Amino acid sequence: PGIYEELLLDLQGNILKGHGRDHTVHLFLQFKPGQVEPLKDWIREFAKNITSAHQQAAEAELYRTEKIAGKPFINFFLSHAGYEYLQFRPFQIPGNQPFRFGMKNDTIRNLLGDPVIEEWEPGLQEEIHALLLIADDNLVSLLQTVNQITRTLYLMAQVVHREDGFILKNERGDHIEHFGFIDGISQPLFTKSDIQKAKTSGDFSKWDPRAPLSLVLAKDPNGKSEDSYGSYLVYRKLEQDVIALLDAEKDLAEKLGIDKELAGALMMGRFRDGTPLTLADKPGGDYGNDFDYSEDEKAYKCPFHAHVRKTNPRGDTGRVISSGESFEDALKTERNHRIARRAVSYGETDYTNSTSTGSGLLFLCFQADLENQFNFMQAAWANASNFVEWNVGVDPIIGQTGPGADRNQKWPVAWGKPEKSDQSNTFNFGLWVHMKGGEYFFAPSISSLTSI
Ligand code: HEM
Repeated sequence: PGIYEELLLDLQGNILKGHGRDHTVHLFLQFKPGQVEPLKDWIREFAKNITSAHQQAAEAELYRTEKIAGKPFINFFLSHAGYEYLQFRPFQIPGNQPFRFGMKNDTIRNLLGDPVIEEWEPGLQEEIHALLLIADDNLVSLLQTVNQITRTLYLMAQVVHREDGFILKNERGDHIEHFGFIDGISQPLFTKSDIQKAKTSGDFSKWDPRAPLSLVLAKDPNGKSEDSYGSYLVYRKLEQDVIALLDAEKDLAEKLGIDKELAGALMMGRFRDGTPLTLADKPGGDYGNDFDYSEDEKAYKCPFHAHVRKTNPRGDTGRVISSGESFEDALKTERNHRIARRAVSYGETDYTNSTSTGSGLLFLCFQADLENQFNFMQAAWANASNFVEWNVGVDPIIGQTGPGADRNQKWPVAWGKPEKSDQSNTFNFGLWVHMKGGEYFFAPSISSLTSI
């Protein structure tokens, strides 16, 4: 317990568990020239305010269960350019390959199918050195905290971009995203209390959500000890075209002679209320997260392209792809690609195309290895029309086809239920999620910042 306590006191608080606050502000900082020493002084002082994993666990218990307004939640992340600006030597900078070169480099190399950088939000096209995440249940005190912090930074850093996010909820209070689907149900779980909660809400017979700390923790070369850890963070602004998705849902429903909710589930892999499509053909099933696709090997129930099946195939890679590996080994490899998602929504759900700011998801995820986790999931699973079998199409929610793709671009994606059609039947899914920019960051250990 001593070792874990040390680890949790030194680890930032959003990694093992989401901060859970209703409102969030993300400030993207570009350090001003010639401010290395003042910035180091600022970081040393500021780091005392960072919410540790230890504090976050205690606060989750205290504030969220007792419904008392909590303290602001604060985390601080550095990009590779930020480490370089602060004059860290190469061996002192976390060395994961995609982090070293930055997200813009992966976009230029067309690794992730992203739109060209010139189409990103102008602020995200800038060189970004750091990201500040500030969250609070109380919006007024959140904005006060943000103002206080930006005032102290004024001479040393410019806020080149800002995002204001929040937890979107349906009428029942469930956490959803702008397309209306419940989100955040399936996550790798790290903490004892989260695992216990999952155990009591269903059994683990089909899907074990537990994950080792090695899934998200990466050594921090600058911490106070050999056992100092941080984590790599992927940040992507993903705009959602809600009207286009609803239109496509209607078209697909007409084509198949099914209702719209089922058509939507054929894209997501779950109904809007979270019911997994592989277990039920209508919403209302209280199945939680205890399922895999072992009884749906031919994807007659849940298409292979469905978003949740693409991003967590739950054993498909071992069953379908004959790589010579044993099923258990394949499952282990597959589970190593998981990510800890920490997204929040932005903007008002746009049902009319009338808001100019748009709406979407501020996608954040933590991992130990960018290449093997987020990048692999996006490029080798979601974007690949031949995963998990040949010609199943890209992920209709997040699949990306590369630069030049626009709102009118469509590509065929197979769907099929044996009683209605066969797998060769296709439907033109469009692009409803538009990547508007992002960056890779590292969440340094708190001790590396207080002693910078
Ligand atoms: C699950 C929506 C982007 C990876 C889900 C779920 C929804 C959803 C509704 C089901 C709830 C749950 O299982 O927790 C969206 C939307 C996105 C988006 C609307 C974009 C606007 C992404 C991206 C990735 C991703 C960019 C990674 C490349 C996952 C994973 C799961 C998931 C790993 C869990 C699947 C499982 O374990 O069964 N998403 N998502 N999502 N999503 Fe996304």
